[in-house]
Amino acid sequence: MEQFDVLVIGAGAAGMMCAIEAGKRGRSVLVVDHAKAPGEKIRISGGGRCNFTNIHTAPANFLSANPKFCVSALRRYTPKDFISLVQKHAIAFHEKTLGQLFCDGSAKQIVTMLLTEMEAARCELRLETGVDRIARIDGGFELALSSGANVRCQSLVVACGGKSIPKMGATGFGYEIARQLRVGLVETRPALVPLTFEVRALERLVPLSGVALDAVVAHGKTKFQEGMLFTHRGLSGPSILQISSYWREGDEIRVDMAPGVDALAALKAARTATPKRAVSTVMASFLPQRVAQIVSDDEGAQGNIADCSDKVLGRLAAAVNAWTFKPVGSEGYRTAEVTLGGVDTNDLDSRTMQAKDVPGLYFIGEVVDVTGWLGGFNFQWAWASGWSAGQAV
Ligand code: FDA
Repeated sequence: MEQFDVLVIGAGAAGMMCAIEAGKRGRSVLVVDHAKAPGEKIRISGGGRCNFTNIHTAPANFLSANPKFCVSALRRYTPKDFISLVQKHAIAFHEKTLGQLFCDGSAKQIVTMLLTEMEAARCELRLETGVDRIARIDGGFELALSSGANVRCQSLVVACGGKSIPKMGATGFGYEIARQLRVGLVETRPALVPLTFEVRALERLVPLSGVALDAVVAHGKTKFQEGMLFTHRGLSGPSILQISSYWREGDEIRVDMAPGVDALAALKAARTATPKRAVSTVMASFLPQRVAQIVSDDEGAQGNIADCSDKVLGRLAAAVNAWTFKPVGSEGYRTAEVTLGGVDTNDLDSRTMQAKDVPGLYFIGEVVDVTGWLGGFNFQWAWASGWSAGQAV
């Protein structure tokens, strides 16, 4: 029977950070992961450059049934702390937009950095190793690993992420552990995910597939202004991924496809100044050409702008500044960047991530019901929750 102070399930962002911190405190640490390589989601993140944090991180950038839960960890381990670590390893980075920090080179540098730190903290990593059984014992836990080894630990850290991208090994195993050990769960759903249209709407919009534009996308009072992309299934792009975390089946979404342009005023002015111009040409001054064409066709405004009544211009303007529709669904966990919901934060201590009713059991990272916006917030949560547990295990 092998014995460790701390056993971490999952060598992702949160698990590696927790292991490093626990190892630095002199704890003996074993990290197991069923994947062939550690930190696979880090490697593919940010288009291969890893958007590893956001300098504007604040609790308001996170969704959770208990919005205050993330405050303590985010305060204890900040973007500045992670930036110091990145600088210590001489990894060059830049701010792309909106406080989002990316590696200049490759996301692999972040994985290497974490592995180097784990080695320095004398953490042991076993890959291609799953967990077959977990039992509570006096003073800790006993685990049967898929390698055949039986391991005992005082602290068990569940860092196996959410359900997004099953192709990359996401299993939902963390939720099973929570169920087994009677820790509460908040219903999960795919988030930061493209939204899809029903067949009839798709037929109409299919010619737009591949067109991108800047848009304000709103769900109720929540709004994001970022890029939007028409796809062959519906809509994607940062603004749509952001709003997908708030959207529920049956809800409407409102899109302003020309932010900062009062389309009605622009159309009326064009009718006076250039009456012989085609409606779609006028619309193309503030919309991509293909979108301008489809919107004009949809409203039956195919002639010159001079032929359009105020009523028609009003309809055209609404289609531009307040296009309202009901997505039929999302692309699901297959492409979702994260999982909304998860381990109920009411059952966890916000300072340590320890389960209130199961001493020695910790949940960190995406498996917990804390989900960040797009833009480096999810990694900052993984680092911060991992760091916090690392001080306590
Ligand atoms: P993570 O999923 O990273 O790690 C979990 C680990 O547990 C994995 O190594 C997995 O193999 C292992 N595991 C799972 N089940 C197991 C089992 N049964 N037994 C053993 N091991 C098991 N965020 C961000 O802030 N900036 C970004 O740029 C991006 N980009 C991005 C791109 C794409 C394509 C995706 C899918 C996601 C992102 N994200 C992101 C989100 C980010 O990747 C995510 O929030 C973190 O990786 C979560 O870290 P965790 O450590 O909690 O889980």
